[in-house]
Amino acid sequence: MADPAHVVLVGMMGTGKTSIGRPVAAHLGRRFIDSDEQVEQRTGRTVKEIFESDGEAAYRRLESDALAAALAEPEPAVIAAAGGVVIDPANRELLRRDGTVIWLDAPPEILAERVVDGDHRPLLGDDPLATLSRLAAEREGWYREVADAVVDVGFRNAEEAVEAVLAVLRGAEVRPS
Ligand code: S3P
Repeated sequence: MADPAHVVLVGMMGTGKTSIGRPVAAHLGRRFIDSDEQVEQRTGRTVKEIFESDGEAAYRRLESDALAAALAEPEPAVIAAAGGVVIDPANRELLRRDGTVIWLDAPPEILAERVVDGDHRPLLGDDPLATLSRLAAEREGWYREVADAVVDVGFRNAEEAVEAVLAVLRGAEVRPS
């Protein structure tokens, strides 16, 4: 395992990075940081508004800034990294170097049933399954590249997924503070 300072959850939209990350952080007695929440707080705009007004490339820069800022926090935290964070090679380098990275993985068919659209996921469009399948195929190798461990969340409910993440962290000697 890499330096266990920060715990970073990566994976596709709908894998539960936020809903799993929050209780994991509470269990460890750590701060929880959601990178998209940080983007929205800093800009005062939703992810959807940023995509619509400035375009995806501009959003990706903000996404990278939020990841770097979260990883630079001195107190070990649990970080839910936005799904697309692995696209940028510089982000992948940061993730490989800093923290314990856990890839939450599930098949697109299951994610398509779980994802909720809203102001946060403008990419989903009219056919979430097709989008998720395409993005998963593009990104799978990148998630694998940065991950210290993989947790299959496809057949686990949220509670079981939290327990599975905590079990991985116990193995990595990341314990409650
Ligand atoms: C995206 C995932 C979303 C959000 C944006 C783009 C992606 O975050 O950042 O809609 O490219 O996978 P979640 O992974 O939290 O859903």
